[in-house]
Amino acid sequence: MVKTTRIRAYEAKDTPELTRLFYETVRSVNRAEYSEEQVEAWAPEVPNAEGWHARMLDRRTLVVEEGGEAVGFAELEGNGHLDMFYLRKDAVGRGVGRLFYQAVEREARGRGLERIFTEASLTARRFFERRGFHALREQTVSRRKVAITNVAMEKRLPPCHGEGEQDVPLYNGQNMLSLRSSDPDRY
Ligand SMILES: CC(C)(COP(=O)(O)OP(=O)(O)OC[C@H]1O[C@@H](n2cnc3c(N)ncnc32)[C@H](O)[C@@H]1OP(=O)(O)O)[C@@H](O)C(=O)NCCC(=O)NCCS
Repeated sequence: MVKTTRIRAYEAKDTPELTRLFYETVRSVNRAEYSEEQVEAWAPEVPNAEGWHARMLDRRTLVVEEGGEAVGFAELEGNGHLDMFYLRKDAVGRGVGRLFYQAVEREARGRGLERIFTEASLTARRFFERRGFHALREQTVSRRKVAITNVAMEKRLPPCHGEGEQDVPLYNGQNMLSLRSSDPDRY
């Protein structure tokens, strides 16, 4: 069965699903590159819904849905900092991230941003390289006294040329994308 993939703005009802998604993805998908101790320090429990709701709202979080279920989220801050980019563990490796990233970049261009920068997990480094990011440096952060390595990366967004080429930000509740997962290159 072909599931419709849709990208939309975060809503309050998403918080329980997204906090659980984050916890489960870190504990399983990221476990490929990080030790048990590291993923436990990174995601010790399902995060507090209230705190996350406030942050996700503030950061104008985008959500990708498949068949009506939230399967990923991205937080793009006003300065171009991509702080969170996570897919549900069963959505990984099927092209959903590629499609979702295209929407995030379109959102960034629509907001007039000149670059997107992130601290990519070792798991996501190749993914972001394929999206045109380059690594600035590897760095180690401390989470609950456990050292975790990530990669500072950035992508410069070329300016739009000519009138009418400016992308429209997705985040206004109206410009939702509906895509068929069998046809990921349509967008
Ligand atoms: C990183 C992540 C968002 C990628 O999304 P995805 O849906 O799995 O990626 P896709 O299936 O769309 O793959 C897109 C491309 O990236 C490549 N890719 C994705 N994950 C990769 C990996 N771990 N290693 C190497 N290449 C990878 C794919 O081969 C594909 O290449 P192509 O564009 O040349 O075909 C997803 O795997 C994820 O949520 N990972 C765990 C959470 C995480 O680390 N997030 C980043 C925090 S900064």
